[in-house]
Amino acid sequence: MDIILIAAITQDGFIAHNSNEVITWSKDLALFKTQTMGYPVIMGSNTYNSIENELKGREIIVFHRDKKPINILNSLSSDKCFIAGGGKTNAYFAPYLSHIFLTPHPIVFGAGVKLFDGKIKEKNLFLENTVTVNAKENIVQFQYKIIN
Ligand SMILES: NC(=O)c1ccc[n+]([C@@H]2O[C@H](COP(=O)([O-])OP(=O)(O)OC[C@H]3O[C@@H](n4cnc5c(N)ncnc54)[C@H](OP(=O)(O)O)[C@@H]3O)[C@@H](O)[C@H]2O)c1
Repeated sequence: MDIILIAAITQDGFIAHNSNEVITWSKDLALFKTQTMGYPVIMGSNTYNSIENELKGREIIVFHRDKKPINILNSLSSDKCFIAGGGKTNAYFAPYLSHIFLTPHPIVFGAGVKLFDGKIKEKNLFLENTVTVNAKENIVQFQYKIIN
């Protein structure tokens, strides 16, 4: 199964100003919707509570600290699933990721929630594809495969 982390990030590697932010600065919400449609989407409780729109058409799995990521992943029968944040959840699922889809945005926060909020192992990535998110603003999604 492809296990894909998907995130909008700042140029200094943050995904939010704080743990309860309703993200309004991201330009790739439409792309997120298209790419995740029909697939299980795993997210942490802070992220779930900060989402304003319903994520129709997807099985949303809310991760809690008493669950084991591997058990959640083993329960899925899909050929693909998405890890959709936040930083803590991304760190919990980091050992199992096969891909990382990142959309860097033209903004610097200086502080906030990191892409991975927790200690993770170094990873080497291969850029497989890019997708234009917003041609006018030159915003691009980078689709990386994790090679080791
Ligand atoms: N830019 C983007 O693409 C993007 C994407 C997703 C989210 N976000 C933003 O990311 C922020 C949320 O990120 P987050 O890292 O704070 O939260 P999160 O990963 O969404 O949720 C926190 C997770 O960590 C667990 N946890 C909390 N405290 C813990 C502890 N002391 N020990 C062990 N596990 C613990 C929680 O379990 P319990 O449920 O048991 O507490 C929950 O599973 C929000 O502002 C959201 O908008 C941004």
